[in-house]
Amino acid sequence: MTSFSARRVRADVPQLTRVVNGRTITYLDTASSSLQPRAVIEAMSRYYELRHANVHRGVYQTANEATEAYEGSRASVAGFIHAPGGAQEVVFTKNTTESFNLIAKSWGAANLGPGDVVLLSEMEHHANIVPWFQLRETTGIEVRFIPVSDDYRLDLNHLDELLQGVRLLSITGMSNVLGTKNPLKELASAAHDVGALIAVDGAQSVAHGITNVTELDLDFLTFSAHKMLGPTGIGVLWAREAILDAMPPFLGGGGMIADVRTDGYTPARGVTRFEAGTPPIAEAVGLNAAVRYLEGLGMSDVVAHERDLTDDALTRLELTFDGRVRVIGPLDTVERGGVISLDVEGVHPHDVAQVLDQFGVCVRPGHHCAKPLMRRFGLAATARASFGPYSLKRDTDVLLEALEHTLKMFG
Ligand code: ALA
Repeated sequence: MTSFSARRVRADVPQLTRVVNGRTITYLDTASSSLQPRAVIEAMSRYYELRHANVHRGVYQTANEATEAYEGSRASVAGFIHAPGGAQEVVFTKNTTESFNLIAKSWGAANLGPGDVVLLSEMEHHANIVPWFQLRETTGIEVRFIPVSDDYRLDLNHLDELLQGVRLLSITGMSNVLGTKNPLKELASAAHDVGALIAVDGAQSVAHGITNVTELDLDFLTFSAHKMLGPTGIGVLWAREAILDAMPPFLGGGGMIADVRTDGYTPARGVTRFEAGTPPIAEAVGLNAAVRYLEGLGMSDVVAHERDLTDDALTRLELTFDGRVRVIGPLDTVERGGVISLDVEGVHPHDVAQVLDQFGVCVRPGHHCAKPLMRRFGLAATARASFGPYSLKRDTDVLLEALEHTLKMFG
């Protein structure tokens, strides 16, 4: 018997009561940033009201409490993704983008050189492309791409050839444009067979599936709290302890050192080596509350709920619009999440989003920071709707009503 109830989740999220343009909002922009339940907001407020102090520095009671709260969040995150080495493998960053920059600028710069290949895919977010191009400028590495097939999946037909010379396969767990989920276990095994490591962009997948880095046999995982019901300003880099231990620091400053002298410095051991300066403490508290909230919902129930919503939306989009609204992504829910990119016949995605706003519908128009993918499909932009655990089929009702209106206006 499942106790999951999307209606209860909805009631926990204050922002979903907002009225915009005379309508209660229909929030379909979770892929961009999720909304926060009260448990997250209140955990952060309580922290600021009673427990705030800097971490890893003071000896007084509230300073110890703040440190415990911060480190407790690291342990929760490690549990959520099944990190084999526990909290010592979890680095707090600003977001997924910073996590990728940390991998490239620390591990990449220390380990890669001319002739080494970093293999990406055509469906990557710019966060998992630009840092590798930047590394190419300084080290002479090659950056290669796995193509995406016409059915919006990775084209793995030539994977063996593509993997030649590869030292790192860095790939998304779920496309933020197509909704496609990638076969991470198979990819990890193929990468390891050629002696490469695998890094996974979990920004879109971590809050919408069960992520077990041990079972998937990953080496790096990146994600952001604000896409998993948590606050902005904090992200995660998980890496295997042996890999992290051998990585040089990224940013320099306070908190990341064991010693500083006039002739140099010695970096701290462990994950704090990568956390220079005062870290996002309240945000870590919020992330911990978000993890606990998601665990309380049950991730397998969240997955089942979002699959049901996606299945329903894909079917109704097809039946209602007879091809005038094209889904840019797989048309079934096999290995697919609740991100639905739309190409509305004859209407620019920004216009679509603006008309939808009149109905209180929040979707994201644009290239979604995935320009190589857009080019692959000859598109400048899409209007993207995306679900979260608080989404209901009635959100799709409003989306369809607003899309019908859009087509009438521009038709
Ligand atoms: N990466 C986020 C998105 O896909 C911002 O919308």
